[in-house]
Amino acid sequence: MSTLLAGRRVVVSAGPTFEDIDPVRFIGNRSSGRMGFAVAAAAAAAGAEVVLVAGPVHLETPAGVERVDIRSAAQLRDAVLAALPADVYVGAAAVADWTPRDTAGHKLKKQPGVERMTLELVRTPDVLAAVAAHRLRPRLVVGFAAETEDLVANARAKLAAKRVDLVAANRVGVPGSGFEAETNALTVVGEGFERALGPAPKAALADTLIELIAERIAGRS
Ligand code: CTP
Repeated sequence: MSTLLAGRRVVVSAGPTFEDIDPVRFIGNRSSGRMGFAVAAAAAAAGAEVVLVAGPVHLETPAGVERVDIRSAAQLRDAVLAALPADVYVGAAAVADWTPRDTAGHKLKKQPGVERMTLELVRTPDVLAAVAAHRLRPRLVVGFAAETEDLVANARAKLAAKRVDLVAANRVGVPGSGFEAETNALTVVGEGFERALGPAPKAALADTLIELIAERIAGRS
């Protein structure tokens, strides 16, 4: 326990989103939610009041954390915006970029002789960009980026495009890092700032990330 974030309110999003096609099918992704849950736990252990907006994962709620369960990107956006004002937003959720234009109210059935089908998708709201542009913008907005190549360049592009303060970039597709791993390695970039963290267990990385966040908001108060 520490008091690094005492008196601060931190909103964290974690996990995948599921975008429903019909009552039994959805589009999801391989996010386990572990990194975001670890960040929420680390923020609470540092004395913050924490709201964790969690996608559909079966993980235990960290001690001292208020959890809001959501399913879709639209629900995630609503829950995150409802949790503002806050001092910090950490967008660790792997929010779907696309959702079915229409969700069928009944199970879609195969038709004899029909060998293909087209699913029309539309863009989801960009929650991170919405938080960063909000009138109640938290002092520090932190995004995550999952990249298979050009880690730092892609993270810097995201920093500028979404007008966030820090981007923690994950290398995915290599052992010991990313979505389904217990450990992770992050490169955190900000304006005039770059730091490599790990490889380390997600809990240890989350503690370091929270220290970094605490330093950066202390510098801005
Ligand atoms: N994010 C979000 N809302 C979305 C999509 C992403 O809030 N609809 C947030 C994630 O929580 C994460 C960051 O944006 O913090 C990831 O950025 P994104 O551009 O989605 O990353 P990639 O999907 O890796 O980008 P790209 O498809 O451009 O590779």
